[in-house]
Amino acid sequence: MIAVVGSCNVDFVVPVATLPAPGETVLGRDHLRTPGGKGANQSVAAARLGSEVAFVGCVGDDELAGTIRGALEAAGVRLDWLREVADTPSGIALITVAEDGENTIAVSPGANARLGTEDVAAAGSLLAEAEVTLIQLEIAPEVVDAATRGAGGRVVLNPAPARPLTPALLSSVDVLVPNRSELAFLTGNQEPSTLDDAVIQAEALTGPGAVVVTLGADGALVLHRGRTTHVPATPVEAVDTTGAGDAFCGALADGLARGDSLEDATAWAVRVAGISTTRWGAQSGMPTRKQAGGSLR
Ligand code: RIB
Ligand code: NA
Repeated sequence: MIAVVGSCNVDFVVPVATLPAPGETVLGRDHLRTPGGKGANQSVAAARLGSEVAFVGCVGDDELAGTIRGALEAAGVRLDWLREVADTPSGIALITVAEDGENTIAVSPGANARLGTEDVAAAGSLLAEAEVTLIQLEIAPEVVDAATRGAGGRVVLNPAPARPLTPALLSSVDVLVPNRSELAFLTGNQEPSTLDDAVIQAEALTGPGAVVVTLGADGALVLHRGRTTHVPATPVEAVDTTGAGDAFCGALADGLARGDSLEDATAWAVRVAGISTTRWGAQSGMPTRKQAGGSLR
C-alpha cells in the first residue's frame, strides 16, 4: 500500500502561444478544467500503474469537490481519509501552458490548508502499515512532520513547491525527490545549469537516506549509499509538462512499493514522467502500467 498525504485541486488550464510576462495579457485557446494537486496527481499516477493507493487530504464543500473526488475514485484510489471541510473552497490552480509544454502555476490551497495533524492521526494505522508514504509541500509544515513521524515504511518527500525544511525533517526522509530549482533552493545555490553542477549540489544535500533529482528531458540523478547514478531519458514530444514531477513521484513510489531498487524505480519513473508530458492535463496525462510498458507483477 502507498499512502499519499497531500493536496488535491482543480486545475484551470489556458493553452497559450507563449507564457504571459508580468503585466501582459495574452489570448489563449479554450480552457481545460482538469483534476490536479500534487498529492492527488501522485496518487493517480501510482494507482494507474497498478499500486494500491490511499489518499489523505481535504476537499472543500463546493462543486469542485465532486470533480476532485470523482477523478481519484475513477483511478481506484482509496478515499477513506479524504475529509470535506465546511464553508471552505476546494484548492484550485491557475495554469498557463505554452506551445513548448512549459507552464506557470498559481495555487490557491483552500481546503488543502485545513488538512491538520488530526487528519494524520486519524490515518495512523494506514501510515504505520504503508510500504511507502508519499508527501509533498502543498500542505502545512506540521502536517508534513506528523506524516513523516507516523510512517512505518519508507518516506518519499517531493519538496514542491520549495520551502525551507528543518534538518530534523530532512533526516527522517528516506528518499528526497527535488527538481533542479528545488535542489538549488534547498542548498542555497543558483539553479544548476549542467549535470555536474546538479551532482555537486545534490551531494551537498545531507540528511535524507537518498536523493533523486528530476532533470526533465535529462532524466534523473540518484544519490544513494555513496554512489551517484545518472538515469537518462528517452526524447519525447512534450505538449504539457504539468504534473510530470508528480508522474515521476507516483511511479517511483510504485516501484519502491513493489520492492525495486532505487535505481530501477528511478528508471521506471523517468519513463512514466516522459509519457505524461506527451498528454494534456496533470492526472489525465498519467499512463497505465500497460501504456508505460511495465510488466504485470
Ligand atoms: O504539479 C502540478 C500540480 O501543481 C497541478 O496539478 C496543480 O494543481 C499544482 O498543485
Ligand atoms: Na501532462
